[in-house]
Amino acid sequence: MERRKFIKNCSFAAVGIPMIGTILQSCGSIYYATTSQSKTGLTLSKSEFWELKKDKKIERKFVMIQSNKFGFPICLYKIKDDQYVASLLKCTHRGCELNVGGGIYSCPCHGSEFTTQGKLLEGPADEDLQTFITKSDNENIYIKIS
Ligand code: FES
Repeated sequence: MERRKFIKNCSFAAVGIPMIGTILQSCGSIYYATTSQSKTGLTLSKSEFWELKKDKKIERKFVMIQSNKFGFPICLYKIKDDQYVASLLKCTHRGCELNVGGGIYSCPCHGSEFTTQGKLLEGPADEDLQTFITKSDNENIYIKIS
């Protein structure tokens, strides 16, 4: 192999390997909860917010929910004790799927940003996200989606 080619390949590897770790780490924090569906909405156990890391019980800030009805995921964010906000991760500008991270939802298409309660922070979108009413009891969280 030519010296120049070898150095170029090593440079890509040196840059790429740490990036793969970062990508995998960020993917690891996205968790899709198991839900059950009824006529009026979705139900999930509060235990979906808990994970075991090195024998320690850690609470997630949010869980993702697959929604066949809307074609976009719903993010259920825990705002306070027993207070949750469920937001459809569809940008109100032109409908791109939003990213979750850094305590906001951000749009990869044109840069709109929303709070985890679905409120618009930054355009070009000019509307809040679609959110759903949530209720909870001692065991479960209920999301009304009809
Ligand atoms: S589609 Fe999200 S900012 Fe344009």
